[in-house]
Order: sequence, then structure tokens, then C-alpha cells
Amino acid sequence: MIWIENIGNYEGKEVVLKGWVYNKRSSGKVRFVLIRDGTGILQAVFSAQEVDENSFDLADKVTQESLVELKGIVRKDERAPGGFELVAKELKLLSSSENYPITKKEHGVDFLLQHRHLWIRSRKQFAILRIRAEVIKACRDFLDNKGFILIDAPILTPTSCEGTTTLFEVNYFDRKAYLSQSGQLYNEAAAAAFGRVYCFGPTFRAEKSKTRRHLTEFWMVEPEASFMELFDIIELAEEMIVYIVERVLEKRKKELEILERDVSLLSNIKRPFPRITYDEAIKRLQEKGFKINWGDDFGGDEETFLSNLYEKPLVIYYYPAKCKAFYMKRLKENPEISLSVDILAPEGYGEIVGGGQREDDLKELEKRLIEYNLPREPFEWYLDLRKYGSFIHSGFGLGIERTVAWICKIKHIREAIPFPRMLDRIYP
Ligand code: 4AD
Ligand code: MG
Repeated sequence: MIWIENIGNYEGKEVVLKGWVYNKRSSGKVRFVLIRDGTGILQAVFSAQEVDENSFDLADKVTQESLVELKGIVRKDERAPGGFELVAKELKLLSSSENYPITKKEHGVDFLLQHRHLWIRSRKQFAILRIRAEVIKACRDFLDNKGFILIDAPILTPTSCEGTTTLFEVNYFDRKAYLSQSGQLYNEAAAAAFGRVYCFGPTFRAEKSKTRRHLTEFWMVEPEASFMELFDIIELAEEMIVYIVERVLEKRKKELEILERDVSLLSNIKRPFPRITYDEAIKRLQEKGFKINWGDDFGGDEETFLSNLYEKPLVIYYYPAKCKAFYMKRLKENPEISLSVDILAPEGYGEIVGGGQREDDLKELEKRLIEYNLPREPFEWYLDLRKYGSFIHSGFGLGIERTVAWICKIKHIREAIPFPRMLDRIYP
């Protein structure tokens, strides 16, 4: 098989390719057909003298997204998209496409989402989803290289992790189960078994509000490490973000170009990141006129404001315990403060990382379950981790779609996942 992304290796040679018709135009006695094969787009030039009549005719009639087989000679051409074009010899129709719904004209986003199965063929979506694949690979490589072991967490779970208001309930035979909101609790068990671990998978939250930052199904990579404290895990998260951005800049230049992303801002993503406490963040917000009090969690507007303060990701730590989940360890000097951290992406993108140090004291954790109104029984195994050699440990979760949305600089997170799931969307 010859793929368009490798076409440069065949300069001067005759090749046969399969692909879908992306676009076409004619000028005088020459016809141009652009085909895409999923790895790139190639322009084929048809001139009446070089090709048989049928092929020349087909180059004119063939419709958008028809599948064709194309024979021709690879020629270097700086003006062609990708730097090479094909001097066509023969064009065959393999499978036709009539009235393809996504055309050159502007479509509304609802229409595009309804046709997401086709929309992903378009150039911008192609670029975003290839960057997504690179981001995921970078996360894995970063953690694998650091000695973290991949331990998959279950999707069907008996408990909540991130509060009970966003749980998806499913029937599990004669019992109730929930789709996982986070693999963290299982990661904690795995950290005691393997030292440093991560899980990576889909997570689910019944988010009842429509925002540009929320999906009901999203992917999260979650490292968890024994013997690391809050500031160790912050350092790890910072290093990981830098690594991801560097990797995309290195490997996905072409895609960033398609998206017209200003890469100078991304090139600037180097450590150290600015770090402020929650208290400081509240002060900044109040100075700016936001009606927010100590103890309130940040809403979308607050996050946008804070994440526009710097050109680098902003680390905010020491949130009030009541803003955070039951498992957060608390500051010794002030139990109202949790050993927690969020990292907000710049350019108004908001939170991409949430994490912290975990409560490792059995008595405290037992109290916490009661405080948070959580049943003890399904957490019994989790309490065991504090009974059998309790250990200092910390971790975080990085949301893939939010990270991709920021790196690609797209407005809404829904384009950062192949098939988005939202309050009002489960088709296709
Ligand atoms: O801050 P969150 O809720 O943290 C946790 O779930 C921890 N248990 C993770 C851990 O410590 N192992 O979620 C982590 C990240 C957020 O920063 C955000 O990037 C993403 O997950 N996220 C969402 N992304 C898309 N849609 C949603 N509804 C999201 N909710 C969280
Ligand atoms: Mg969070």
C-alpha cells in the first residue's frame, strides 16, 4: 500500500492510490482532483493529452467523497499542498457518493454534529484528532519513561469518586452500579502494589449544564505515586504538560498549520509555571470585581479570567476543603485547607488538571465519609489501604479533551473527541 503521507518517497515513480475525492476544479484543458486517503491530501493533475478519455471525463464528473483509484507519476511541486502532486494517468471510480451532505458552504454546528461520522473527514477535524492522538501518545510515553506502570481502572464501579451529583447510574444485574468518574481510588490501591502507576481511560459525568468545557464522556490520564507529596505531584504535572506541548510542536507542525495555531504561545510553555494559592486567586478575582467569597468554587467566568492572567499554565493550590472531594488530605495547620491543586491552561481555556495529596489517616478518612454523606460499605476496600501500611501518596488527572482544545485553540471541547457525548447529544 502506498499512503499519501509517504508520497515523497516515490518521486518520479508511477504509483496507484486509493482515496476519496476531496475537491476538484478545472482550468482550461487541465483538471485537478484532490484525493484524501486519511493520511493526507494529494492533488492529481489531468491533462487531455496524458490520460484516456474516460479518465478525463470522470475527473470532471466525479463527485465529492466518491472512492477512486488513481494511477499516476509523482512529481515535486512546491505549489501543491504537501509539496508533491500526481501527474494522472488513469482514474477509476470504485464507489460513488451522491449528494454528500457536508459541502463547501458554511454549516451550523448542530448540523455538523449530527453528521459527525462524516464531519471527521474534513481537514480541520483531521488535524484536531491527529493532534489528540499525539497528545495521548505523549502522556503515555512521558509516564512510561518515568517508570509509571499502566494499571487499568474499572469503568463499572460501586461508588462515586467525584461527588454524587454527576453519577451515571446503570443496572448491574439486581444491583446499582455507576460509570466511573475517575480511576483514582483504584489507582491508590495500585500505587501501594506498584509504587507509581497511571490509568488512562474514558470517564463519565452526568454534567447537566451545557458549557464549552464539559462533556459527559471524556478521557483522562491519571498518574498516582507513592511517597509523593502535593508539591512533588505539581512538579510532575508541570513536566508532563511541557512534554505534551513539545511533542505536538515537534510532530504535528502540519496539523497546527492547518488550524492556524499561533505556535509562539505554545513554544513559551516551559517551566517554571506561575503558582498562586486559592486565597491569592480569590483576591485577584475580588479586585477585578467578581462577586466571589472565600470558600466558593470557581465558575466558568472566574476560570477564564484567571487563565488569561498569564501566558503559561497557572497552578492554583490549597483550595478550601469544602470545594474538593472527600479524599483530599488537609493542611496540618489549617484543616479547612486541602492539599489540592488545579492547573489552568492559558488563553482562557481553564482547568486541565485536578489533583492533590490523598488522606492517608484512617480515622480522618472515616470521619470524612460521614461528613460527605457517603456510605461506608462500598468504600471498605478503600479504607483497607489505610489499615495495611498506609502511605503518603498523591496524584492528578489530566483531561485529554481540554488539553487538546487548548493546544488546538478551538472554541469548544466537543471537537476534541471523535464522537462527543453531551447533555443533548448521543447520536451518532
Ligand atoms: O478535577 P477532576 O474532577 O479530578 C479528578 O477526577 C481526580 N479524581 C483526578 C485524580 O486526581 N486522579 O477532573 C480532572 C480533569 C479536569 O481537570 C478536567 O481536565 C477533566 O478532568 N474534566 C473534564 N473534561 C471534560 N468534561 C468534563 N465534564 C470534565 N470533568 C473533568
Ligand atoms: Mg477539578
